[in-house]
Amino acid sequence: MAAGLGKRMRSKRAKVLHQVAGRPMVLYALELAQRVADEAVVVVVGHQAAQVKGILDEHAGHTTGSARPRLMSRVKGVTAHVKAGGSPVSAPLIAEQRQQLGTGHAVMQAREAIVRARGTGAARYLILNGDTPLLTDTTVQELLRVYEEEKAAVAILTAVLEDPSGYGRVIRHPAGEDRVMKIVEDRDATEAERAVREINVGTYVVDGPFLFEALDRLQPANAQQEYYLTDVVKLAVERGLTVAAVKASHPEEGLGINSREQLAAAERVLRERIRRRWMHKGVTFIDPDTTWVDADVTIGRDAVIYPDVTLEGKTAIGEDCCIRSHSRIAHSTIGPRVQVLDSCVITDAVVEEDAAVGPFAHLRPGSIVRRKAKVGNFVEMKKTELGAGSKVNHLSYLGDSRVGKGVNIGAGTITCNYDGYRKFQTVIEDDVFIGSDAQLVAPVKVGRRAVIAAGTTVTQDVPADALAISRMVQANRLGWAAKRRGLLAANAPHDSNGAPRTPRSAPRRPAPVARGKGRQKRTGGK
Ligand code: UD1
Ligand code: CA
Repeated sequence: MAAGLGKRMRSKRAKVLHQVAGRPMVLYALELAQRVADEAVVVVVGHQAAQVKGILDEHAGHTTGSARPRLMSRVKGVTAHVKAGGSPVSAPLIAEQRQQLGTGHAVMQAREAIVRARGTGAARYLILNGDTPLLTDTTVQELLRVYEEEKAAVAILTAVLEDPSGYGRVIRHPAGEDRVMKIVEDRDATEAERAVREINVGTYVVDGPFLFEALDRLQPANAQQEYYLTDVVKLAVERGLTVAAVKASHPEEGLGINSREQLAAAERVLRERIRRRWMHKGVTFIDPDTTWVDADVTIGRDAVIYPDVTLEGKTAIGEDCCIRSHSRIAHSTIGPRVQVLDSCVITDAVVEEDAAVGPFAHLRPGSIVRRKAKVGNFVEMKKTELGAGSKVNHLSYLGDSRVGKGVNIGAGTITCNYDGYRKFQTVIEDDVFIGSDAQLVAPVKVGRRAVIAAGTTVTQDVPADALAISRMVQANRLGWAAKRRGLLAANAPHDSNGAPRTPRSAPRRPAPVARGKGRQKRTGGK
């Protein structure tokens, strides 16, 4: 059930679109259902249906592998994002609930979708709220087991909470018996009922024929004037059918996200679980509490992650990598043994094995750093491939470029890829040497083994093995600096720039001289 708005979130976005550990909430319920269900999964959408369906489509594409970026598959030794076991999951059926008239009404829409797809109803149904992302497979399996064992018509998952406010309360038989009688929503509860700390998690297993019958009998006679799914419990009791209940052994699993506080609480729990899972698989977190790893990230064995690192989206980190502090890596693939030094931002990029990046590097979308290449400090790359073993160590911008193998790119090299209207390509072939402070005005190509002299502005293609140099011819004026010092010391007349008026050989445009006696004394002292 994912059709609700989620008023208490006070958001412009439907609640199930909000992210927990970097993925939309709706996907937790969906994937759990897909793992547990024997058959079809239906998602009830309603509020912002188009966006929710978009997420479901994208998810279906990813799990079958078809929408996986091509870049990913090229990196060796990194876990690919295919489902364990390799079996592709079929996309869920979609039921649209145009008006959100309650959880019972949501299931009525799912009923139609199922009957349409199968021709007839199923023997039993697992029903999940879309806002309980902490729920685990183990707990749901246990609920299914108890449902079967007790030959129940309905089995519900409950949790005993310190603060049950807002949830539906599980009302058991008063005569000391344990039997569940009904679920009462917070808003409909009496004072005594509100004191009950056992809550309905919103996870149900229901007998098929009974469910369909019960749905027809639901009435919106309650505070919210909604069709409550929870009323099927009361209906089963009235019919003398068995209602089973399983208490979650970890009550946190029952956390339903209705508010931003609950969203943050779920985030904390899930992040902790994710880190523990990777530590179990042999990853070192120097300070787990400050390391943020999204749910879809994979990390290879013996990787070491320093404090304050954020790994986002479908990022894959290879074995033996070292990711230093304050780096953020999103939707990227990092090969084995890569060093990412401090404070890097890496987005939609690929870094192959044994490469090094940072500190303070920015790899923007479409950057590919091939094996053993090195990207140093204050370097920005975008839609650029840096060939194997090539180096761009300091203060450079490479955009829309293809750089071959064994290339050395000197400090302060800039590819001028944009003329204000369009973007152009720069191609630098293998074993080129580019001196410091060069500009490559694209479109331009530098042939193999060519050398670009420092300070050159390359505006034409450079043939292989050539030297390209474009500079002003340098003039040295002997004694110039000493003369100026002498003139300034003698307080000789000088122009507004501080340049002495005589003699003629004196410099025309010396560096501006600070006014004030103290500063003057220091001039030329360094
Ligand atoms: C529901 C339960 C409550 C339980 C709590 C657990 C009902 C009547 N109450 O309350 O007993 O303790 O969950 O978290 O079921 N939805 C739809 N269509 C609708 C209404 C809701 O698809 O018309 C979906 C929502 O998107 C959400 C889920 O159903 O994923 C639960 O809805 P929500 O409004 O959060 O129910 P609660 O008031 O929390
Ligand atoms: Ca809820």
